[in-house]
Amino acid sequence: MPDKLIAVILGCGKFAPSAMNIQLWHFTVVTKREVLAMIDKEVKTVMVTETDDYSRINSANSAYDTFRTVPRAIIVSGMIAIKYGESDSANAVENMAIEAHSLDLGGCYIASFRCAFLGANSEKLLKLLQIPEGYEPYFAFAIGYPHIKPIILK
Ligand SMILES: Cc1cc2nc3c(=O)[nH]c(=O)nc-3n(C[C@H](O)[C@H](O)[C@H](O)COP(=O)(O)O)c2cc1C
Repeated sequence: MPDKLIAVILGCGKFAPSAMNIQLWHFTVVTKREVLAMIDKEVKTVMVTETDDYSRINSANSAYDTFRTVPRAIIVSGMIAIKYGESDSANAVENMAIEAHSLDLGGCYIASFRCAFLGANSEKLLKLLQIPEGYEPYFAFAIGYPHIKPIILK
């Protein structure tokens, strides 16, 4: 996937509205599949301990991928100390999802990756992803090419 497309999508995320226009968010573009796979592995170590069937079944399913097998993902982290960091991050992801669709790309809004930061290797992952101190990864947008073109009803 060309970096140019990622840059356009990222730009739309950064234009999302934030409470008090504070824009205290941090975007991490993950371009290495092995990093996404590492996060997925961590997610599964936490999912296996959860009480709902969906999490427990998928934690043992090798075909289940937290990032839906995409080549790239953008993680949006918000500052923990501010009141609306989580909703600001959600707005950014939604903006990116709409833009990706307009570029004929596929994408998926992801929250389940957060489990990775509840596990034993949380600090290691935060460091690897260079998430700044005081920020928490809230949502991600997984970007790829769709297998099928969605039918849009006019
Ligand atoms: C806050 C939020 C978190 C989500 N987390 C995940 C997730 O972790 N994994 C996933 O496959 N889809 C996730 N989704 C996507 C939804 O399950 C659903 O597929 C999507 O909202 C439907 O989009 P569509 O109407 O474009 O098909 C999330 C959506 C939202 C709004």
